[in-house]
Amino acid sequence: MSDHRRSIPVGPSRPDGAGRPDRGADGSDTLYARVGGTAWFSGLVDRFYGRVPAEPALAPMYPDDLTEAKRHLALFLGQYFGGPAAYNAERGHPRLRMRHAPFVIGPAERDAWLRLMTAAVQGGGLAAADENEVLGYFATAASMLMNAGPTDGAGTGRMPGPAL
Ligand code: HEM
Repeated sequence: MSDHRRSIPVGPSRPDGAGRPDRGADGSDTLYARVGGTAWFSGLVDRFYGRVPAEPALAPMYPDDLTEAKRHLALFLGQYFGGPAAYNAERGHPRLRMRHAPFVIGPAERDAWLRLMTAAVQGGGLAAADENEVLGYFATAASMLMNAGPTDGAGTGRMPGPAL
């Protein structure tokens, strides 16, 4: 590893979805494997997106048809937690800050997103250590994706510029 790479923070708390050097290359002993693979992540995003339409701070940001949003998030999370690199294969490098740039994400939006995701995770029946790892990751990542100060919490803000 070059000095340049060493200077980049990596590890379980790295929220941008890049490599997880703490995981075995053969996929063993990953959180992905422990929770049962893709099916657990699909269930998680179903529980999360099931609550989005009723959350005023978030609903206006999302398309009516959540099918693709669900799939992309499940692929991303499975990959992040040690599963196959299926998200990168389909979508390229995650670049989550860039992909969220069109949306105005202030503290109210972050808090709403995290509240829904926390409930979704807690509904997943994980062992305590795994649940804590997943919750810790989401708390860090959600704060990293904030790109605005306080908003009116109506979830209608969009940055000017091209769509995703
Ligand atoms: C902080 C509050 C957040 C808000 C308000 C938010 C909002 C959104 C919205 C509106 C989309 C586009 C959905 C679509 O049009 O299909 C999206 C996509 C996505 N979000 Fe978030 N998000 C947040 C946090 C996060 C976090 C913490 C993660 C990961 C840990 C994440 C991962 C993703 C992924 C992977 C996509 C799909 C990107 C793609 O197109 O490939 N988001 N998000």
